[in-house]
Amino acid sequence: MRFGHFSDAAREYVITTPRTPYPWINYLGTEEYFGLISHTGGGYSFYRDARMRRLTRYRYNNVPTDVGGRYFYVNDDGDVWTPSWAPVQAELDHFEARHGLSYTVITGERNGLRIETLYLVPLGATAEIHRVRLTNTGATAKGVKLFSILEFNLWNALDDQTNYQRNLSLAEVEVDGSTIYHKTEYRERRNHYAVHAVNAPISGYDTDRETFFGLYGGWNAPDAVVAGHCHNSIASGWSPIGAHQIDVALAPGEVRDLVFVLGYVENEPGAKWESPGVVNKAPARALLQRFSTSEQVDAAMVELRSYWDDLLSTFTVDSGDPRVDRMVNVWNPYQCMVTFNMSRSASYFETGIGRGMGFRDSNQDLLGFVHLVPDRARERILDIAATQLPDGSAYHQYQLLTKRGNHDIGSGFNDDPLWLIEGVAAYVSETGDLAILDEDVPFDNDPEDTGTLFEHLRRSFHHVLHNRGPHGLPLIGRADWNDCLNLNCFSETPGESFQTTENLAGGSAESVFIAGLFVHCAPDYATLAEAVRAPEEADRARRAAAAMSAVVLDHGWDGDWFVRAYDYFGNKIGSSECDEGRIYIEPQGFCVMAGIGVESGEAVRALDSVGKILDTDHGIMLLQPPYTSYHLELGEISTYPPGYKENGSIFCHSNPWVMIAETMVGRGDRAFAYWKKIAPTFREEISEVHRLEPYVYAQMIAGKDAPRHGEAKNSWLTGTAAWNFVAITQHILGVKPEMEGLRVQPCLPAEMTKVEVTRRCRGAQYRITVANRGESGSPRLAVDGQPINGTVVPYGPAGSIVEITVDC
Ligand code: GLC
Ligand code: GLC
Repeated sequence: MRFGHFSDAAREYVITTPRTPYPWINYLGTEEYFGLISHTGGGYSFYRDARMRRLTRYRYNNVPTDVGGRYFYVNDDGDVWTPSWAPVQAELDHFEARHGLSYTVITGERNGLRIETLYLVPLGATAEIHRVRLTNTGATAKGVKLFSILEFNLWNALDDQTNYQRNLSLAEVEVDGSTIYHKTEYRERRNHYAVHAVNAPISGYDTDRETFFGLYGGWNAPDAVVAGHCHNSIASGWSPIGAHQIDVALAPGEVRDLVFVLGYVENEPGAKWESPGVVNKAPARALLQRFSTSEQVDAAMVELRSYWDDLLSTFTVDSGDPRVDRMVNVWNPYQCMVTFNMSRSASYFETGIGRGMGFRDSNQDLLGFVHLVPDRARERILDIAATQLPDGSAYHQYQLLTKRGNHDIGSGFNDDPLWLIEGVAAYVSETGDLAILDEDVPFDNDPEDTGTLFEHLRRSFHHVLHNRGPHGLPLIGRADWNDCLNLNCFSETPGESFQTTENLAGGSAESVFIAGLFVHCAPDYATLAEAVRAPEEADRARRAAAAMSAVVLDHGWDGDWFVRAYDYFGNKIGSSECDEGRIYIEPQGFCVMAGIGVESGEAVRALDSVGKILDTDHGIMLLQPPYTSYHLELGEISTYPPGYKENGSIFCHSNPWVMIAETMVGRGDRAFAYWKKIAPTFREEISEVHRLEPYVYAQMIAGKDAPRHGEAKNSWLTGTAAWNFVAITQHILGVKPEMEGLRVQPCLPAEMTKVEVTRRCRGAQYRITVANRGESGSPRLAVDGQPINGTVVPYGPAGSIVEITVDC
């Protein structure tokens, strides 16, 4: 069942009922100011850091699930309703929410009044616009009261929800005409405040929450709205809000636009005040001036659209199947950009308080956006690398504002260092910018202890080699990619963190996954070593990879699939010797991606086992059978009920590894079939089962052992976005930038007979036409009409157009 449809021309998902199976959200903002917005107007906003600069309040895990946002109420002669349906939930004669690229439009109509609100963050602005368009669709004149309302957050989102003895005595505001200034803590150390304004005279306002809602009133029926007027309250401590009242008269057919602005404003420390106690409003006025007419908002929309036109023209496909095209051309890169901006901080499953930027997550996210914003990817790489520790290990997370490693989590996740190699290799392949390898980058942000970026990669690579266990496999440390395989943790204390606790540290637990990742990274690392004229290091790396492959085949091969790990006591995990957790997805994907066993047959065998044991109608499960009880020696993985999260869900992040692996053994049909099972545009038809947004990937879908098999959770902020983009574009469609040229090596399913791809790379434009005749063997390429050997097309000069035809 569907709850809306794609509008491909507009690049929107059009939701046609407010009663979706879960709040379906979108993101506003592309630079520094961001907002989350659900299809019924829920959500919140922040400047740069969702924890430290939160502008508006949101209460997670609420009842009902999504209350709180930037809302508009109507009092139409005593009839109170909200055009976003929530929070009043009065029935609407018409409802539509259109989620587009960095904007959302919500329309509600009732009793002859249509209200369409456009929400966006203009480029170059630290503010969001809510343009409210009221249309009298009836035959009689209308006079209504319109109310805006949002709750100001007291900046630090964690403190805001925990420190009431202080916070309820803190709030301060100013009101000047139609502008409400939220200036809590501005008197002391902050030099920023928020504004909530409208481009029209108002007939009232409230800034004190209790006055607006009533102490016992709620979002469904605020006192002021029901009474039909605000009280011009000035918040003093307690909870500050920004509410406007505007009386609107509309003749039949008349349309009126109101432009509301919620903005973040900074003053220089020396220029904070206009007069004692009165904030300097000059920058706020300048901001509001830029968005004081509906035409200015239209112009901002045009700019925003062209920003996305430009980004999305980097890679396009025409595959003949709109579900493929809209995923590859629009929604997947869009989600990748959101993961670039948010990392794992703010979604409807991540509170914006907890997690910093993950070392491994950020490097993997990069794979999905490096072609869109290479300059920003470069900056990101240097930031990440600066949190690496001198021994080659890495802080597992760092904070965005300070760019410092997070001491609470620390290091010791032994896969982390290798992801830096993946990220840098992707960046250099995309851009050819070898100079980045010579950049001087600190270790642990210490300006006294620096090395070139290549030196960072060298320490990453050798960190694995220096930390091997009894079988010669890499030690796992606190966890590898699977955060929940905590083999040195042995936690018996409720509440203790599985990620940071090592009750039996210094153990000998080893990871076959890290071995696969190591072998996978080695060729790129060797090429980068050659680029910095370190040929001996390149040789060393190739030899080390060959040796590691042999170790994997000796100690990491179980007969029908790759073993997952060895535990603290040297017992196998992910082996037919085990009762539960006999086979895991990760080593099957990564060892095959690394080429281990491709020649000698183990690879196909492992992939066949995946197909037989882990595959379901909803994607590939992480492991089988799931753990049914808590295993002290395994850690968090066995804490989840069977079928959830790492304990046997379809953890979508790791599915594309198997897709890529399938293309490595030439099985395009299988690769594509796996992709279709988890790709949101293909799951749209079963939205009542999947429940989350049909336009972005979710981190996990419940596995077959869970009662709610097929139900997704944790949409938006997941490495799933980047890896699926890599799988579909670089391996199935087969267009992959490499150091020496653009590899064009499609591995297509039979159902895709003709494919056209355009790719911009290093300033040239590639137009690729693929005829898929289902022939096995290597594809045959012609470049500008001339047949070439192999599948790597040398990069054309900037500005050139290169025509490539492929027969396969
Ligand atoms: C989460 C984490 C990621 C980890 C994955 C598997 O998605 O963000 O770092 O690899 O879970 O445990
Ligand atoms: C939990 C999750 C895992 C995530 C980790 C991050 O362990 O199960 O997916 O990576 O938290 O801290």
